[in-house]
Amino acid sequence: MKIIIEKTDDGSATLFVPELNEHYHSTKGARTESQHIFIEMGLKASASTAPRILEVGFGTGLNAWLTLKEAEQSGRHIHYTGLELYPLEWQTIEQLGYISNDEQLTTSDRQQPAIELFKQLHTSPWGKDVQLTPHFTLQKVETDVNKLRVENGELRVDNANDSVVNSPFSTLHSPFNLVYFDAFAPEKQPEMWSQELFNCLFVLLDEGGILTTYCAKGVVRRMLQTAGFTVERLPGPPGGKREILRARKTRNEK
Ligand SMILES: C[S@@+](CC[C@H](N)C(=O)[O-])C[C@H]1O[C@@H](n2cnc3c(N)ncnc32)[C@H](O)[C@@H]1O
Repeated sequence: MKIIIEKTDDGSATLFVPELNEHYHSTKGARTESQHIFIEMGLKASASTAPRILEVGFGTGLNAWLTLKEAEQSGRHIHYTGLELYPLEWQTIEQLGYISNDEQLTTSDRQQPAIELFKQLHTSPWGKDVQLTPHFTLQKVETDVNKLRVENGELRVDNANDSVVNSPFSTLHSPFNLVYFDAFAPEKQPEMWSQELFNCLFVLLDEGGILTTYCAKGVVRRMLQTAGFTVERLPGPPGGKREILRARKTRNEK
């Protein structure tokens, strides 16, 4: 698949996929969008002391990176599961320039070049828990999210040959506290915005769990409500979309 690197309005880069006529992030500001929707409106709104996060569409790892930084700043332990069907090459991601060569990341035990950690985020093995920093553990899972099913509270994939069946992810018992729903737009990939998938994500979330997404369309809001979520429309990122959605699995809901 052909991919083109483009600058967005806040100076950070994103990827453009000509085949889909779609970008990985908002052209109004890739980093600003990720920080606002997933960190400010999602992670910081979660009451969990040690959040378990599920990301639909790991992509460039920008959301994961901003989450790692927040984990180290806040001191909250975070477990992050990123689902991705089309993993990107490090050689492509490197060119996005998300990390400058002199940027350092300070963790509770040391200071290290941020670019090294960002590279590890991408080159670490798939299907395994990898502790990248004292407060951030990553598990990347290469799978088609449309094959996910919940059976007896456990996550399964339809296709028995899929590698995820043999990963710890398939026998996961602990629920998630937060879902970053970051699929390509419904007009470009309608199969990613299905009632079935939202029902599945609702089951995977713990009581009080939160799902955030950049898409505020009525049809998406109604699907989330049908799944059992209580949905809020919140202001979008500075200079970007007018509204975004935050859905909560509140007590006494379905
Ligand atoms: C909007 S981009 C995600 C951007 C990403 N969160 C980031 O920070 O770079 C959507 C992502 O969903 C992935 N994707 C597309 N179809 C998928 C599927 N069926 N299952 C899992 N991931 C899929 C794409 O490859 C892409 O990485």
